[in-house]
Amino acid sequence: MIYSIKKPEELTAQEIETIIALWENEEWMGMEVNDFKILFKDSEFHLLLDLDEKIASVLRLNFDFNLKISDHVYSFAELGGFASVQKGKGNGSQLLQHSMNTIVTRDLQTIGFCLSDVRPFYEKCNVPILYDKAKYIQEKDGGDWVPSEDDDILIIHLSEENNNLFQQLDLQQPAYLIQ
Ligand SMILES: CC(C)(COP(=O)(O)OP(=O)(O)OC[C@H]1O[C@@H](n2cnc3c(N)ncnc32)[C@H](O)[C@@H]1OP(=O)(O)O)[C@@H](O)C(=O)NCCC(=O)NCCS
Repeated sequence: MIYSIKKPEELTAQEIETIIALWENEEWMGMEVNDFKILFKDSEFHLLLDLDEKIASVLRLNFDFNLKISDHVYSFAELGGFASVQKGKGNGSQLLQHSMNTIVTRDLQTIGFCLSDVRPFYEKCNVPILYDKAKYIQEKDGGDWVPSEDDDILIIHLSEENNNLFQQLDLQQPAYLIQ
């Protein structure tokens, strides 16, 4: 297996097709290669490739992720778009370990999100989880602020100060996702 980091413009058309299929997001199905590259221009793609250089697992680091908490805007990297072609073969945990090593080496302040049914995976990977805290992240939906659909916040790599920021989120002090 090969670990590779690619900017959107470095992805092949076939890789983009594979990623879109893995993400299973109706909104993005059938998206043109160039539109994909533009939409994710502020992202980096971490890939685990098999010996034929085909994607076995992918995740996206989104560098356009800003949260407003108590009138301050904080920028983080967001780990998302994580999916494996064949599940349960160890590829997801291998990719996550490689990515976390990269994130720590580059000291990227990084969080992620998950639904409660994927918790056991992150627990196995020893990722610290803020259980049920994702509902305190408010996102704009039309004209309204609504709680995130995710359940948990994943502490991928945060300084103690930033860790405390997320620990302290609650109904009185939510975080607002600034687009
Ligand atoms: C989550 C995901 C990326 C993990 O990748 P993977 O290649 O299946 O991961 P691994 O094979 O390394 O799994 C490691 C362990 O976690 C377990 N695991 C994986 N996904 C799990 C899940 N959704 N729920 C519970 N346990 C899970 C595996 O059974 C395995 O356990 P084992 O070591 O006891 O056998 C993959 O299951 C997937 O593509 N899921 C659909 C998309 C998704 O939910 N992404 C995460 C969004 S936060």
